[in-house]
Amino acid sequence: MTDTNDKTNVDTGTNLDTNVGTSVGSDADIETGRPSPEGQPSTAPRLRASGLSGGRGSATAFRDMDLTLHSGSVLTLLGPNGAGKTTTLLTLAGLLPARGGTIHVDGTALRCGRPLTANRAGIVLVPDTRSLFTTLTVDENLRVAATRGGPKPKEMLDVFPALEKRWDVAAAALSGGEQQMLALARALIQQPKVLLVDELSMGLAPLIVSDLFKAIRGIATDHGCAVILVEQHVNLALRAADEAAVLNRGSIVLRGSAAEFTANPERLEQAYFGAVDA
Ligand SMILES: Nc1ncnc2c1ncn2[C@@H]1O[C@H](COP(=O)(O)OP(=O)(O)OP(=O)(O)O)[C@@H](O)[C@H]1O
Ligand SMILES: [Mg+2]
Repeated sequence: MTDTNDKTNVDTGTNLDTNVGTSVGSDADIETGRPSPEGQPSTAPRLRASGLSGGRGSATAFRDMDLTLHSGSVLTLLGPNGAGKTTTLLTLAGLLPARGGTIHVDGTALRCGRPLTANRAGIVLVPDTRSLFTTLTVDENLRVAATRGGPKPKEMLDVFPALEKRWDVAAAALSGGEQQMLALARALIQQPKVLLVDELSMGLAPLIVSDLFKAIRGIATDHGCAVILVEQHVNLALRAADEAAVLNRGSIVLRGSAAEFTANPERLEQAYFGAVDA
């Protein structure tokens, strides 16, 4: 039983607060009780990271990051290679220790650097490696991730019907798009409150990526989870997201609504290539 380790192909209710850039989401959203998809007033954001810093080895990869994501919204986190996007997701998921700051899920503080604690609190990561069990079938991969009292593997077919005809096929034999569907289904079966998706589109055709992003949008809306979608496929990510943020050299240098950046991509491009200073 091995994990996939190929960086081949293939998660967002968002308000984003950072200490730089254009203000979008804010505490005002919490105080005014922005409605959840179920029509209930939300009392706390799904995810709040305050002053979060993290890194690997001796270097700090990102610093003083403030993120607020509400139920049902999608944030795409963009930025050039080495900007710190993956390190941010790994830190939120507890797989790397935070070097400062706090993380709250639904208003409850997490002890940073504890992957099991983060997972139990509802933070689920779809890593850029996919991390599927390649020798196990689709069904078996889902059974491994299923929780007692939670959704059954077959229920994942409501979101990813294309997996039905591949149900008893080993993950290694799936196409890249099917593997990413399975990776998302395996995250969904864990009933995430916060879904973190790293470079879902890697190696996939744009049409497949577009379908996967629609599925992510549906997961956010229908299941009320907040999604952070790290992407290099900027245009497709903007279509799936409510908001976008650009991380460059460890700081968020620009943020705003995805629709705004789709209409006016110039500022986004400048931030991406480092022409906008934090
Ligand atoms: N295993 C590691 N050990 C030490 N430093 C690392 C490691 N992986 C990444 N880094 C460094 O951490 C910083 C942030 O890297 P990270 O992988 O988070 O960037 P990224 O934005 O996800 O980049 P990419 O778009 O290439 O995936 C970079 O300076 C990188 O060189
Ligand atoms: Mg990365």
